[in-house]
Amino acid sequence: MKLADRVNKIKPSFTLEMTSRAAELKYAGHDVISFSAGQPDFNTPDNIISAAKSAMDNGLTKYTAGSGMIELRDAVCQKVKRENKIDILPEQVLVSNGEKQSLYLACQALFQEGDEVIIFSPYWVSFPEFVTLSGAKPILINTESKNNFEPNLEDIQKIDNENVKGIIINSPSNPTGAVWSEEKILEVLKISEEKNWIVISDECYERLVFDEQITISQKIANNNNLKTEIITCMSMSKTYAMTGWRIGYAFGNIDIIKAMSKIQGQATSCANSIGQAASIEALVGDQSTVDKMIEVFKERRDYMIQLLNNLPEVDCRIPGGAFYAFPNFNFYIGKTYKNKTINDSFDLCEIFLNEAYVATIPGDGFGAPGYVRFSYAVDKKTIKNGIDRIEKIIFEIK
Ligand SMILES: Cc1ncc(COP(=O)(O)O)c(C=O)c1O
Repeated sequence: MKLADRVNKIKPSFTLEMTSRAAELKYAGHDVISFSAGQPDFNTPDNIISAAKSAMDNGLTKYTAGSGMIELRDAVCQKVKRENKIDILPEQVLVSNGEKQSLYLACQALFQEGDEVIIFSPYWVSFPEFVTLSGAKPILINTESKNNFEPNLEDIQKIDNENVKGIIINSPSNPTGAVWSEEKILEVLKISEEKNWIVISDECYERLVFDEQITISQKIANNNNLKTEIITCMSMSKTYAMTGWRIGYAFGNIDIIKAMSKIQGQATSCANSIGQAASIEALVGDQSTVDKMIEVFKERRDYMIQLLNNLPEVDCRIPGGAFYAFPNFNFYIGKTYKNKTINDSFDLCEIFLNEAYVATIPGDGFGAPGYVRFSYAVDKKTIKNGIDRIEKIIFEIK
């Protein structure tokens, strides 16, 4: 059978692959510790679950408007006003099956063959694939741990290529957990305005920020009277522990949102009605469970970073948000374990998984050779056990 070329142009999601390998080992009876999760370990708060049950009882089990229930788009406007101090109208909002779909739609609606799109490395694995699927070409700009994974402005400024149409930013970041400073985001937005690039701002971890900081691109643009075109994408998944409900949303320029909605309408009609009803409660209901979750994540972050930095020759900067640590294991690349050379972070993570039953995600897959992503969406006891096991392994690396 001959498949379409686009299938061969993209890679499968290797983060999902690592997670399923860990699940298989667990199923086979091994005591697996997983630092690979890209989701909170908490259950969805009760008030949200109750709202979903009422929605089902009350017959909200049918198709909704393609761009999302008006009540939910209105709840998004209220949330964005309350927390992000941005005024938007329901017509500027699109509700999708997870933010991932909003991001995909933004790329489909905006980019095509001949276009180029800037992505910062280390990057979330789906960004280059979304761009490639649209027919456009990703341009990677490297960032470094010593600079909080923030870009050098000269690297962006010097891109003088009229094929560049867009730029994707993601703060707080997956995989690094880095939160870019307000000044850095402002500078990137200014350059984008000057060069007429559309900004897709992935803000799925916007609430999971541990030190007071503004990360919302649209707010920074508004505060500085910038006219930069920004499509902001946010998610119910991480803030409300709702990854399986598959609801996310985007807001911005009405024409772009309409174009995204047109594609969504033909692809999936609308997001699931019960998840949408539950999301209204999540956005406008009691927020105290979110605050508690943030506190727990902060405590775990501090604990994990300290343990990682105690490992010999491992260096981990303190991430400002999300729930990922991104330590540098470069010292161990090129060395040997049980007479086998460790060529890259894929090999290293294989050893952690197969020999210590600890699942982590290799940084090479995020465009960051020598780094490893650890999720701290697990309790402190598990963090300690897992890092103890890794310590034993690295003492055997020669
Ligand atoms: C950076 C980033 N963007 C978007 C998403 C997708 O979120 P959702 O579950 O809303 O599709 C994820 C999920 O892991 C993510 O890490």
